[in-house]
Amino acid sequence: MSVRPGIFISFEGIDGAGKSSHIEALAQRFKQQGREVTVSREPGGTPLAEKLRAIVLNDDMDPLTEALLVFAARRDHLRQAIEPALAKGQVLLCDRFTDSSFAYQGGGQGLEPELLGQLEQWVQARPHGASLRQPDLTIWFDLPPAQAAARLSQARAPDRFEAKDLAFFERVAHAYGVRAKAAGARFCRVDASAPREAVGREVMEAVRARGWLA
Ligand code: TYD
Repeated sequence: MSVRPGIFISFEGIDGAGKSSHIEALAQRFKQQGREVTVSREPGGTPLAEKLRAIVLNDDMDPLTEALLVFAARRDHLRQAIEPALAKGQVLLCDRFTDSSFAYQGGGQGLEPELLGQLEQWVQARPHGASLRQPDLTIWFDLPPAQAAARLSQARAPDRFEAKDLAFFERVAHAYGVRAKAAGARFCRVDASAPREAVGREVMEAVRARGWLA
């Protein structure tokens, strides 16, 4: 019997946009409909990438070093986890992927999109002339940075990114908008300022609209 195609969905947004609970709910829904699901995150998702995550989130470094480390983590994650899961026909739900690099290292830290585009080409290349590996769908939780900051102030101790000022998150949010425009077909924008139930419904609807859920 042939394996049905895997589905790769990424979840994006500034810190505090509230992705996590929706990722979990979507994983449950896919499982109820008989799909095998892997939930992962970036940076991270493999033992090596999780070590890199700890470094990126805690140690001071320049923006290019940061970009190289998140893409190194991504390379390992793709080879060890994402590609094998998709080859088995699984649903792969990933909390952040390359759009985060364009938003944070690009918009936030000021690296040129062209440079990040080169790293993307290297890291997401596939054999035999296949197109770059990209998510089949990216759900973007769009939230005004001031609202995100208010949510985060009630949360745990911030990591290096969560501790950045509002201007940083304004730039990150803007970069998400630019990226969403450039890759329109892959992106689904969700209004993350809406009540949680409404956001959850939008997420399910985006996936149903692709024919992936009944
Ligand atoms: P996040 O996904 O928000 O996890 P948690 O909810 O556990 O804090 O944290 C990851 C952080 O890493 C987030 O602030 C964004 C940042 N990041 C980058 O700067 N570049 C990247 O390419 C990725 C994937 C994440």
